[in-house]
Amino acid sequence: MTSDKKQWDYSQLRKYDLNFEQIPRVYYKDSKIDELLALNRPVVITGSNIVKPACERWNLEFLEDHLGNSDHTVYVSRNHVFKYYDEKKILSKSNPKGVKFKPPTRIVEMKVYEFMQKIRDWRHGDDRIYLQQSLNASVGQAIAEDFVRFDWQYVNGKQDKHNWGPLTSNLLFVAMEGNVTPCHYDEQQNFFAQVYGYKRCILFPPNQFECLYPHPIFHPHDRQSMVDFEKPDYNKFPKFKQAKGFETVLGPGDVLYIPIYWWHHVESLLSGGPTITINFWFKGGPTNIEYPLNDHQKVSIMRNIEKMLVEVLQDPKEVGPLLRTMVLGRFTENINN
Ligand code: FUM
Ligand code: FE
Repeated sequence: MTSDKKQWDYSQLRKYDLNFEQIPRVYYKDSKIDELLALNRPVVITGSNIVKPACERWNLEFLEDHLGNSDHTVYVSRNHVFKYYDEKKILSKSNPKGVKFKPPTRIVEMKVYEFMQKIRDWRHGDDRIYLQQSLNASVGQAIAEDFVRFDWQYVNGKQDKHNWGPLTSNLLFVAMEGNVTPCHYDEQQNFFAQVYGYKRCILFPPNQFECLYPHPIFHPHDRQSMVDFEKPDYNKFPKFKQAKGFETVLGPGDVLYIPIYWWHHVESLLSGGPTITINFWFKGGPTNIEYPLNDHQKVSIMRNIEKMLVEVLQDPKEVGPLLRTMVLGRFTENINN
């Protein structure tokens, strides 16, 4: 478990032209956690036993010995950025409606010992790797034993209390130091549990949609920001200047609540070695339509309208012009005049 004594320093963080507020760190028994979860606000849950059995013994050697002998999904990147893309949206013979797209990373299946060997042999300039694999029945017995000893009572208690839908998966992330998952949002509630090493997470609320410029919905990078945080193009993305993030650095035992539809950028610290994280992903709860609608409901409405227009127009290139015709000079003016 982490003490609150800092185990890292600012030289281990990448530098961005952004302002941050710190995400609150709250002891797991404190009722403030429920207040924040109820409001869909991020919080770092400290001191809990959620993934304590893993924090006590998981490291790269332990995973190598116990993750099992099946193939694992590993992303391979020429650089430190691992921008997610949806293969189903890429143009191919079987998908003539897809988008022409050159994937920024490769997806490779490999055994855990091959992955660990690659990490051990890695030299600057080599491709970087990132294992992202659902924890499933193929894991070895020691991992399965730790998994059942997670504090499910606490996790399920929060799920019930806040009306989240079912747990959909536990994703295991094993990253090299310096790896970055760039800014995106997910359509699920997430308990992001840090097991080993340190990760910095930068979050933005759903109402900063305009500042973060997501790719269009039909694009393989749907839900991913188009802005390169390391070299923002302010001509193309001027509102990015107004983005205001919330930030935290997580150490072993810390669990970050990433609310559904909240943007998040995740980086393993620049030094300090590899990191291990487990995600608990839950479907969103049933939606209560109460007015005014909340920000994530508005994002969901925008997604549905975009989806519908792509479908009926049959050509994604027509979506922008149609929307512009609809709003320019009409909804862009003060509608009370
Ligand atoms: O790199 C990461 O740990 C990303 C996690 C996420 O997007 O949920
Ligand atoms: Fe995510």
